[in-house]
Amino acid sequence: MADPLKYYGNNTCVTRNLLEACTTCGVENFIFSSTAAVYGTPKELPATEATPTLPINPYGRSKLMVESILADVAATGKLRYIALRYFNVAGADPDGSLGQATPEATHLIKVACEVACGKRSHIDVFGSDYPTPDGTCVRDYIHVMDLGRAHILALEHLLKGGASEIMNCGYGHGFSVSEVLRSVMKVSGKTLDIRMTSRRAGDPAALTADATRLRTLLHWTPQLDNLDTICKTAYDWEVKWQSPTP
Ligand SMILES: NC(=O)c1ccc[n+]([C@@H]2O[C@H](COP(=O)([O-])OP(=O)(O)OC[C@H]3O[C@@H](n4cnc5c(N)ncnc54)[C@H](O)[C@@H]3O)[C@@H](O)[C@H]2O)c1
Repeated sequence: MADPLKYYGNNTCVTRNLLEACTTCGVENFIFSSTAAVYGTPKELPATEATPTLPINPYGRSKLMVESILADVAATGKLRYIALRYFNVAGADPDGSLGQATPEATHLIKVACEVACGKRSHIDVFGSDYPTPDGTCVRDYIHVMDLGRAHILALEHLLKGGASEIMNCGYGHGFSVSEVLRSVMKVSGKTLDIRMTSRRAGDPAALTADATRLRTLLHWTPQLDNLDTICKTAYDWEVKWQSPTP
């Protein structure tokens, strides 16, 4: 919200340039990391791919523009694409080999795990007065391994000559920020310093996915649909990478 040009630049302009390079070089299949943010604040949840796309922040708009560009490029016959609308991605490879290493990450579970490990002093919760059961925002957290499998299936679909599609990636049920923080405390055995602060601009109250299309068309079956598993793998990763020589 504070730096819209950065998002339009990185997400929209750079992807447009990447697509130009792809079409010039004969790349025929394209998987796009889209986002649940294209829906904004849907009237009904879970959101299906037919739910109106009315983003409420520059991030969602910058990604939705790419979906339009992709549809236009696909209409020329130069490439086919799958736009995967990720909901909230979290967790790490259960074998400990891969996880999120983004410096100064802003993702809830990553930040909570960093607090549990002592890498941060506390966690701010942006708003506790939303129209949700406990007042904190509700999101559909998807384990990164299940999301990774969706990418492989999407690529196989395209390589077999399948049509371009837009697909939601989520489990279809949400957890509140407070529920997530309780889960991180449970799996880590640590008490977090949680500070309730005011709402952040651009956050919808709740977002959950109807991923029927992904399940039926690509035969995607989630294997790690469990909040504690998501938080435990994220926490274990954070502990592992605390060591200066991992
Ligand atoms: N994390 C989520 O919940 C979520 C939800 C919806 C969509 N997405 C989308 O998924 C994508 C990845 O998100 P993330 O949360 O993993 O972000 P992230 O910032 O954690 O990771 C981005 C990765 O891209 C790499 N990268 C950036 N610029 C690059 C470049 N020019 N060349 C090569 N690598 C480069 C970074 O080093 C980093 O590893 C983004 O497009 C994001 O918009 C993420």
